[in-house]
Amino acid sequence: MAFENFVVVVEERIALVTINRPQALNALSRAVLEELDEALDQIESSSGVDAVILTGEGKAFVAGADIAEMRGMSAEEGRAFGVLGSRVFRRIERFRIPVIAAVNGFALGGGCELAMACDIRIASDKAKFGQPEVGLGIIPGFSGTQRLPRIVGASKAKELIFTGDMIKADEALAIGLVSKVVPPEELLPACRALAAKIGKNASGAVAYAKAAVNRGLETDIETGMELEQNLFGLCFASADQKEGMGAFIEKRPASFVGK
Ligand code: HXC
Repeated sequence: MAFENFVVVVEERIALVTINRPQALNALSRAVLEELDEALDQIESSSGVDAVILTGEGKAFVAGADIAEMRGMSAEEGRAFGVLGSRVFRRIERFRIPVIAAVNGFALGGGCELAMACDIRIASDKAKFGQPEVGLGIIPGFSGTQRLPRIVGASKAKELIFTGDMIKADEALAIGLVSKVVPPEELLPACRALAAKIGKNASGAVAYAKAAVNRGLETDIETGMELEQNLFGLCFASADQKEGMGAFIEKRPASFVGK
């Protein structure tokens, strides 16, 4: 399927999804969010993908939600827009396969929120992060007030949200907002290497691990532990558990089938 605002290329079991609206610094309009949802549909329906890498064309990852489109919104329309973005981002968070954000440049407002919905964030040393919404008379609306404090802690999250300050990649690394910073030319190779490494493992186990971590972070530890124990048990119903342990005992590389 061809998209207006995205380029999706699947190579070596990795889907590279590039937001392609550089003339507006990849700003998230309703149309962009709806297409992102469709790109996820396409990836979900193809069985040959182990991981997704999400990046932006040009000098921005995403410079935020589309301010020109939001400008005239009513309260009702503003709410619906927040619901749309939050639903698509939640889908990324719950996507069965890992989603890696390759943050190539500005990740502001909705762009920072999009990166935070991904499982792992790797940044170019040119990337800049921030939640500048209060300077526009709004607040983060794609779940940034919820994810940022969960990732960096309440004090730093409130500092960033209340000031609207932009931070560079090295500070984002220091506060745990990204897990690695690399030179721009190494960004996609680093993300591909990470995706390929994940792809070598049992995909069902990776999916269960993702669900256990994410859902566990959203609940009390007892419930999280119970979920982990149930998913751990379910692993033993898979062919890949038999293969992984068999390969270890037989001193040979495992050959997983994804079941
Ligand atoms: C619409 C945007 C945009 C945005 C940039 N553009 N960001 N259009 N929405 N969020 C457009 C500019 O208007 C301009 O269009 C073109 O992209 C290039 O941007 P410049 O500003 O000329 O580039 P530069 O001088 O390099 O500055 C880069 C920048 C700046 C610092 C990132 O563009 C900026 O501050 N952008 C807005 C960042 C922001 O406030 N984001 C949060 C949005 S609110 P023209 O046509 O003039 O060339 C949000 C809420 C999320 O995200 C929740 C919603 C529910």
